[in-house]
Amino acid sequence: QEQQTLFDYIGETKLHQLVDAFYARVQEHPDLAPIFPDDLTETARKQKQFLTQFFGGPPLYTEEHGHPMLRARHMPFTITPVRASAWVFCMEEAMEDTGIEEEVQEHMLERLTLTARHMINSPDPDG
Ligand code: HEM
Repeated sequence: QEQQTLFDYIGETKLHQLVDAFYARVQEHPDLAPIFPDDLTETARKQKQFLTQFFGGPPLYTEEHGHPMLRARHMPFTITPVRASAWVFCMEEAMEDTGIEEEVQEHMLERLTLTARHMINSPDPDG
């Protein structure tokens, strides 16, 4: 073993708990709920695959769905700066819900925040 990845630190069980806690928050968030499907089972399944590989684990998402092309896959949805912040906020809350330690949270959030910003494809309605 040469290097511990974030996935190694968190482990599969906790990562799955994190994703479930995250979508529970998303479902309750007024800025996010409207653009997500009512049933988030499949969304959560894909996100578990994606975050596993994003944090250095096995490439589960790519094995089933091909190249993530995340920005392109998000183009059908209006993603404003407000929604990107809301996404990161729900993730932060979910990390607290799941009891992920502060230092690991910081590393994860840093990477997720950059990716969330990259998804923005529309300005906020009132500038
Ligand atoms: C899918 C919204 C950021 C990863 C989706 C879907 C929506 C969405 C509406 C479709 C859900 C469905 O129909 O199942 C957003 C918003 C974001 C955001 C508002 C704010 C910036 C991110 C970030 C990541 C991510 C930062 C990764 C770190 C994914 C993945 C999928 C997905 C993996 C599934 C793609 C697929 O269908 O294969 N997102 N997303 N999203 N999102 Fe996001």
